[in-house]
Amino acid sequence: EKDVLDQLPLRGKKILITAGPTYEAIDPVRFIGNHSSGKMGFEIAKAAANLGAEVYLITGPTHQKVSHSLINVAHVTSASEMYDAAHSHFNAADIAVLSAAVADYKPKNVSDKKIKKAASTFSIELEKTKDILKSLGAIKKHQFLVGFALETNNELDNAKGKLKVKNLNLIVLNSLNDKGAGFGGSTNKVTFITDTEQVIEHQLKSKTEVAQDLMQQIIKQQHA
Ligand code: CTP
Ligand code: CA
Repeated sequence: EKDVLDQLPLRGKKILITAGPTYEAIDPVRFIGNHSSGKMGFEIAKAAANLGAEVYLITGPTHQKVSHSLINVAHVTSASEMYDAAHSHFNAADIAVLSAAVADYKPKNVSDKKIKKAASTFSIELEKTKDILKSLGAIKKHQFLVGFALETNNELDNAKGKLKVKNLNLIVLNSLNDKGAGFGGSTNKVTFITDTEQVIEHQLKSKTEVAQDLMQQIIKQQHA
C-alpha cells in the first residue's frame, strides 16, 4: 500500500512566498502604500500547501486569512522588513515566489512626531527601496525563483527584461489592461514567461486557478 502522501508532488519541498503591499512610514500615523489585496499570494500559498509543500508566507498588511498546518505566516509592514524576512528564509527554500506589491520608494526621513500642517504645499523626499526579488536572484543557488510583473504597456518586453535582470526561472505577467485583472478582484489574466523564453498565455481565471496553474508550471519546469 502506497502512502497517500507520496502522491503529493511538493511533499518535503520548502517554498517561500511574499504577498500583499508594503507600507512605508511617513510619520507615526501616516504611510505610503498601495491597493494590493494580498489575495494572489495567499492563493499561491494554499495551492502549494495543497500539493504538500511547507510554506513560509511573508505578508504585508492585508485582510487575508489562512489556516493550514503547512503554512507558516510572518507579518511584516515595510519593504525593509520584508527584505529581511525573505533573506532569512531563502537559503532553506527550494522555491521562492515573490508576488508582493513592494513599494518602490520610501520616505528618506521618517518623522518621529506627527507632522503638522503648515504651508500650502508639502513634499516628501523619497528614496528607492531594496529590490527583494533582484537581491535573491543575485544570490540564488538551487532555488527556483519566480517573480511577477505588473505592466500596462510594452508588457511582454518589460516582463522579459525583468526575468533577465532579476535572474528568474519564471515570471508571471499580470496585464492591468485586461478587465478583471489585477488588484482587488478575484480574477487574473496572466502570461507565464520561462527562462527559455517560452510564453504561455492564460485566459481570465479565478486567482485560485491561477495559483494552481502556477504551481503546475513550476513542477513542470523543475522536472524538465
Ligand atoms: N519586487 C521586489 N522588491 C521590490 C520591488 C519589486 O521583490 N522592491 C518584486 C515584486 O514582488 C515582483 C517583481 O519584483 O515579483 C516585479 O515587480 P514590479 O513592480 O512589476 O517591477 P519593478 O522591478 O519594481 O519595476 P517597475 O515597478 O518600475 O515596473
Ligand atoms: Ca515596482
